[in-house]
Amino acid sequence: MKKAVSLLALGTLLAASLQATPKNTDPRLELMKDMRTMLDAMEQIQRGGLYSSTDEMKAGVKKLQGTLKSLEGEEVKAILPKDQVYAYKFAQKTAQMLRMYSDDMVVSIDAGKMDNALDDYSQLLKQCTSCHIRIRNW
Ligand code: HEC
Repeated sequence: MKKAVSLLALGTLLAASLQATPKNTDPRLELMKDMRTMLDAMEQIQRGGLYSSTDEMKAGVKKLQGTLKSLEGEEVKAILPKDQVYAYKFAQKTAQMLRMYSDDMVVSIDAGKMDNALDDYSQLLKQCTSCHIRIRNW
């Protein structure tokens, strides 16, 4: 009997997790997924820079830019504190900066200016941390 109950519990858990996975409609979950993709992209850019692989750097930029839409859009409000009026504007601004510096990084790479590209990288990282420090409630 005990076994049957725990099996039932397991079954329910599995069903719940299966339900949650395919339809990821919670905007918070989507945004957190984008955050992890952004981290992944930043790591890829950094790795590309350290191994002097401009292709890898550019692939990282592409990955990063793929997430900016959700940071720019209304859905970002789901992860922003409601009591901070400026938060949404701030998020849009940071997203713009991320776009600008990542565009500039590609230009710098194509021009063979790795020092500029590195500068862009630190500017990108600054955008992440500046929002996290201001907005994230840790
Ligand atoms: C406009 C604000 C904003 C910007 C810009 C931003 N983040 Fe975030 N990020 C957040 C918030 C808010 C959370 C967490 C919310 C919470 O903890 O409840 C978060 C969480 C994360 C997490 C944790 C995700 C998880 O699974 O818990 C990672 C990783 C992350 N961000 C990476 C990045 C990277 C990399 C960048 C820059 C390329 C970036 N973020 C830019 C607001 C931002």
